[in-house]
Amino acid sequence: MKILQTREELKTWRENVSGTLGLVMTMGALHEGHLDLVRAAKAAADTVLVTVFVNPTQFAPGEDFDKYPRDLEGDAAKLRAVGVDALFAPTPEVMYPQGEALVSFNPGPAAKILEGKTRPTHFAGVLLVVGKMFHLTRPDVACFGKKDAQQLAIVTQMVRDLDFPLEILPVEIRREEDGLAMSSRNRYLSEAERGSALNLSQSLQWGLEHASELGSDRIAAAVRGRLEEIPGIEVDYVALVNPRGFVPITEVGFRGPATLALAAKVGATRLIDNMDLVF
Ligand code: PAJ
Repeated sequence: MKILQTREELKTWRENVSGTLGLVMTMGALHEGHLDLVRAAKAAADTVLVTVFVNPTQFAPGEDFDKYPRDLEGDAAKLRAVGVDALFAPTPEVMYPQGEALVSFNPGPAAKILEGKTRPTHFAGVLLVVGKMFHLTRPDVACFGKKDAQQLAIVTQMVRDLDFPLEILPVEIRREEDGLAMSSRNRYLSEAERGSALNLSQSLQWGLEHASELGSDRIAAAVRGRLEEIPGIEVDYVALVNPRGFVPITEVGFRGPATLALAAKVGATRLIDNMDLVF
């Protein structure tokens, strides 16, 4: 596996790729969820490039940019083991050589709700780095996890609206055996918090099991009510949304595919999860 750190190294490597290129963008601290994206990219393209970059522009002041887990050596070993062709791991100076970008992508209305409400600058920061990385790496296909379903919806919208010449391939959420969605932030949890965090996936699962009795108008509030009873959990949102545009579904008797999404703080750690269902 080739390790690339500068734009020049990336450019030379890219010019010698023949056939299709699959891209997996990550912030490192890799787990099996990230590796599922790599496996999907390998199945979809001839050559696979993974990026590891903790992107400063998607963190607001006071968020966990400084303490976000970084382990490039460990990440490289995992990527080598699953047969990745190249790893691009730039520094912030390599990605943002002119400092702050003055022109950026507007992430649209879906960026203002749910994750975007708590993190108002987050999705603009995500699109900035995703758009730049698409230009630098020119992939034919890019894999994104359904774990970050709102991010997936907004990136897909950008590719569609701005005619990026590539395909976005969504990948299912990888979970621990007990159901907790894998996340690089799970390592912040104490043992007790890890136990509480299990209630996130369990409450979504409960919602899915009771979806037909609750209906589209009551499911989110019912799941929220259950979660709020658990000590140590502070619910940010529970919402039923349209998986394409990420617009909340509030109508009574809605029929069709939907995503039940939530965010909650477990201790000091903010976690997100979601599950798909059909009404
Ligand atoms: P990061 O949180 O490292 O996630 C990288 C990719 O892995 C995303 O597409 C995310 O949805 C996917 N992923 C994470 N956990 C997953 C799981 N349990 N199952 C399936 N996929 C999972 O998302 C980001 O980084 C950044 O915002 C990024 C897109 C790299 C831009 O900086």
